[in-house]
Amino acid sequence: MAPARRSVRNPLSPPRGQRPKIVIIGGGRLGGALALSLSAQRWPVSVLSRTEEGRRRVRSLGLKPATPKELAEARVALLCVPEKAVPEVARELARTLGRGAALVHCAGALSLKALGAPRGRPLGSFHPLCAVSDPRDSLAGNAVAISTRSRPLKAVLRRMARELELQVLEVPEARRAAYHAGAVLSAGCAVALMSVAVEALGHAGIAEDEALAALLPLMRSSVRGMASRGLANGLTGPVVRGDTAVVAAHLAALPPEVAEIYRLLSRRALRLVAPRLPPEVLADLTKLLSER
Ligand SMILES: NC(=O)c1ccc[n+]([C@@H]2O[C@H](COP(=O)([O-])OP(=O)(O)OC[C@H]3O[C@@H](n4cnc5c(N)ncnc54)[C@H](OP(=O)(O)O)[C@@H]3O)[C@@H](O)[C@H]2O)c1
Repeated sequence: MAPARRSVRNPLSPPRGQRPKIVIIGGGRLGGALALSLSAQRWPVSVLSRTEEGRRRVRSLGLKPATPKELAEARVALLCVPEKAVPEVARELARTLGRGAALVHCAGALSLKALGAPRGRPLGSFHPLCAVSDPRDSLAGNAVAISTRSRPLKAVLRRMARELELQVLEVPEARRAAYHAGAVLSAGCAVALMSVAVEALGHAGIAEDEALAALLPLMRSSVRGMASRGLANGLTGPVVRGDTAVVAAHLAALPPEVAEIYRLLSRRALRLVAPRLPPEVLADLTKLLSER
């Protein structure tokens, strides 16, 4: 009789219905938020902190500090540490984690190379597109960029995303910088854009805090318009209306650096609404926005 074949389980695939053990490295803002959200969905999670103070912080959030046993048994280590610490932390973990346990970083700007050579471990990245300023911040409703060459790890990261209510974006490693630049444009650069708008109001004699308080609700209403009607239909302003005279007056009124940013962004707006404008208006606006 042929000997019974023992099934070999992939270390990242626990028995049906169970979730793999996760150790989160770094109990800061994102580490704390991921640990709280995953625990709430009954994932077995512990958090590795470097200091006694860190471990106290972890306990005060109702989370479990990682013991050496948990570190050895974890199937996925999620590195929630500053970018510059990722290579060294990954090197240390490669010595302490169990065989075949995955290393995953959460840094949008880093490639998988930051985790070192795979040496039998699946490597990945799980980068939530949200600004977490406190561990108690909710992650649900945001997107997450996932990158890995390992199918079992991809299945785990996708399951994590689904249960945390994060929309998955798969990012090819070779295009990672372009993806991250887009994320920065939508967040940090939106703040920079607001500072330009505040400066324009300053030119009209309005104080910075008063200007920001007035412009924030306007920006929110514009974001709501984009969310419900998309980019081209969510756009408002003189370019959409084909009002060349108003655009010319704006350019004349603004200080040079602000006018340059206005001109650049208005050219982009024009591209969005070009099919809806009469050809002569489109030509006038194109000329006006190209002039220096
Ligand atoms: N916050 C966000 O909105 C956000 C969003 C997406 C991605 N991320 C990414 O998540 C990672 C962490 O960001 P964060 O905002 O959570 O930072 P953070 O609040 O400063 O937390 C980082 C934690 O890493 C640990 N740590 C600090 N320096 C370390 C070092 N040299 N070696 C090992 N561990 C160290 C500390 O935890 P212990 O004291 O517990 O050891 C610290 O609390 C970054 O890669 C960031 O790009 C953050």
